[in-house]
Amino acid sequence: MKITITGTGYVGLVTGVCLSDVGHQITCYDIDQEKIDLLNSGQSPIYEPGLDELIQKNIQKGRLQFTSNVKEAYSGADCIFIAVGTPPNEDGSANLTYIENAAIEIAEHMTKDCIVVTKSTVPVGTNEHIGMIIQERLPVNLKVRIVSNPEFLREGSAIHDTFHGDRIVIGSDNQEAGKRIEEIYSPFKLPVVHTDLRSAEMIKYASNSFLALKISFINEIANLCEKVGGNIEQVARGVGLDKRIGNKFLQAGIGFGGSCFPKDINALNHLANEYDYDFKILKSVIDVNRLQKERLFHKAKEIFESLAGRKITILGLTFKPNTDDIRDAASLKLIQDLLLEDAVITVYDPVGMSKVEKLFGDKIQYAASAEDALAGSEAAFILTEWGEIKTLSLETFKSYMEKPILFDGRNCFTLEDAEKHGIHYYSIGRKP
Ligand code: UGA
Repeated sequence: MKITITGTGYVGLVTGVCLSDVGHQITCYDIDQEKIDLLNSGQSPIYEPGLDELIQKNIQKGRLQFTSNVKEAYSGADCIFIAVGTPPNEDGSANLTYIENAAIEIAEHMTKDCIVVTKSTVPVGTNEHIGMIIQERLPVNLKVRIVSNPEFLREGSAIHDTFHGDRIVIGSDNQEAGKRIEEIYSPFKLPVVHTDLRSAEMIKYASNSFLALKISFINEIANLCEKVGGNIEQVARGVGLDKRIGNKFLQAGIGFGGSCFPKDINALNHLANEYDYDFKILKSVIDVNRLQKERLFHKAKEIFESLAGRKITILGLTFKPNTDDIRDAASLKLIQDLLLEDAVITVYDPVGMSKVEKLFGDKIQYAASAEDALAGSEAAFILTEWGEIKTLSLETFKSYMEKPILFDGRNCFTLEDAEKHGIHYYSIGRKP
């Protein structure tokens, strides 16, 4: 079976590499020649632990190849996975241009009966639309089947998630096509859920929205703990042990970011509006998250009479650890807010610095280490719980900073430790 993956972003690249690793013959196709050159040299264009090694191994074994040649990609393909981006439009809806273009190209270049599988996150009804685009342009002697196969991997643990996911969702209105896709995934030995096309599309949006809802909910409980007393770490543990609730995604913090949750929730809300449905909980999840991102900044403003001219450190810029992704990261909002107050900002992140530098240039300073960033600082914010940041000794904050005032958006330290080291410590959901 010749399998082609269209789009070498997170989802497409990781899927292609993992499918080749279990023995499939995989061609990854992307229109970006620079990316393809990099990949052919065995390097990943994205930062993802373990990915480079898997790419190199499977190129060497001769079962993974990368191309920007559309003919090479689609001719003879039995199965084509579409994994191109669906970025947000200004109104929050999903931009389907890339996916529509992919569908047109497939119709124009496929040379045999083929199953087209959508991995990109797409609004309910899109797979039918893709099917129509292809069908309208297809030579009469060829047949296409459409399958929706949403992706649940997380950045930073994408390879692990692909091999050890909780389920594989296969949505199709054609049983035989669904079965063939199940066979492709059979080496992973994961539970498979067969659904119709629209249900599969909805499962993806409902899953991401529900996870985001858990985060916004625990963040609101945390905010209330700060007022009425109680420690959110203890509360989350006690709540999460109830198996009906589960202990995952109950880590209170400075709100969720990244390329998925904010985009997908807005897209689902937009879809609901289109169908004249007022999705109240979803709107609250969005609102709570917006306010949560500003929380530590407002705390700092309360404590300092003015932030103008003050030397402020930010540790952690990416939206979570083990990724270089800064999309919708809390750091971007905080930097903007602090710049408006004329603070003097120094930042440090183990891998996210160059992307932030592209946005803010010389408006802020970039340190080579956490210690350098803290030197002489009057207040520090922790925004990403990178291993090397959360294992910093509190003594380091005390000895390097001018004044040891710490705003911890990821609850990396205990209140007791902070007090023992004489740190003025403000965290989430725990009264100082
Ligand atoms: C998310 C989903 O978890 C994946 O299942 C999904 O496939 C992916 O979106 C996608 O749609 O492509 P990802 O955005 O990589 O994955 O990151 P998560 O690990 O889910 O974290 C998202 C945000 O939530 C981060 O900013 C993280 O810091 C925050 N978070 C997460 C919390 O604040 N608290 C938690 O308890 C968990």
